[in-house]
Amino acid sequence: MSAQPGEISVGVIGAGGMGTRHADTLGAAVSGARVAGVTDPDRPRAEKLAANHGSDARVFEDERALIQHPGIDAVVVTTPDDTHAGLVMECLQQGKPVFCEKPLATTVEDARRIVDAEVELGRKVVQVGFMRRYDPRHLDVKVAIDSGAIGNPVLFKGTHRNLAAAPGTSSESILVNSAVHDLDAARWMLGREIEDVYVRGMNTRAASDGEVLDLQVIHLKLGGGCLADIEVYVNAGYGYEVDLEVVGDAGTIRMAPANAPVLRKQRYAGHPVEGDWLERFPTAYVLEMRRWIEGLRDGRLTGPDAWDGYTSLLAVESCIASLHSGTKEPFSSPQRPDLYR
Ligand SMILES: NC(=O)c1ccc[n+]([C@@H]2O[C@H](COP(=O)([O-])OP(=O)(O)OC[C@H]3O[C@@H](n4cnc5c(N)ncnc54)[C@H](O)[C@@H]3O)[C@@H](O)[C@H]2O)c1
Repeated sequence: MSAQPGEISVGVIGAGGMGTRHADTLGAAVSGARVAGVTDPDRPRAEKLAANHGSDARVFEDERALIQHPGIDAVVVTTPDDTHAGLVMECLQQGKPVFCEKPLATTVEDARRIVDAEVELGRKVVQVGFMRRYDPRHLDVKVAIDSGAIGNPVLFKGTHRNLAAAPGTSSESILVNSAVHDLDAARWMLGREIEDVYVRGMNTRAASDGEVLDLQVIHLKLGGGCLADIEVYVNAGYGYEVDLEVVGDAGTIRMAPANAPVLRKQRYAGHPVEGDWLERFPTAYVLEMRRWIEGLRDGRLTGPDAWDGYTSLLAVESCIASLHSGTKEPFSSPQRPDLYR
């Protein structure tokens, strides 16, 4: 495996939709990095992705072989959610930087083990794929809030809609897999921690989904006297959409409505809606990989970290408890270790 001097050799675990997107971004839009290895139990899929990255990219037999190989400097984990924690722990044991797609883990206990292992290591090596933090439309809102344009933020209103629920979706997995983005977005956008949660859900597709609560409304109280209302609807039927408005005591700011221009014609005004996250967040995925590689080169990771992954899962756990109990659930943020200050 030949790398240019100073170039970071990245190994990709999981050659599906997100693995392919991140690998292709690293290959085409990020300087100072290259895809040096791929692994996936679906071997032809891994071979196809590796082949797209030149003869230097090799296919590894399994995840452990890739993580432990001295020619791999950093790892991208884009496997199913329930495999993330084990793979991140394996990287931590090797002291190897890892970009892990959200969620960091599927249980709070596993996420805490990751935080503890990173604190023990004494340096940050884990980044979590909360890509909204790199989306220009989100960033415009964040910059305005931080500049004081709306005064003191008092209400976060978020909308997260998917065209159709993925096979195997459960009421709980909607919170672990989808709403985790919105919980992170509320914490990040407002710079405040969650204090309590209340979630209600209903099934809108009784014929096909049985008992799955595919429409969920999450109500949060955050520190500093701020509320959040988040709608997550995974069977919205018309497209993929993430929307956001933050109300302040001196004004309100809403995310720009579309990546596309507004067409007005024959008594119609509107814009197309994306079908999924790959269409909606192309720039965010590029900036996310660029900043990650820059951070590795500078020895200073600045993206969402293991603490953000852990805290968002704690909030998810409270949301699941609220969905089951039908009542408000208290939430207290644990003390943040110095590593994450
Ligand atoms: N941040 C985002 O915008 C975003 C969007 C979609 C998905 N995701 C997350 O990314 C991850 C991957 O999602 P996807 O849509 O690419 O799924 P996918 O099903 O398209 O790809 C997953 C791949 O992982 C492979 N795989 C399974 N177990 C593996 C293992 N132990 N080692 C190596 N490979 C393994 C599968 O064969 C498959 O090729 C999920 O955790 C998902 O939650 C994030």
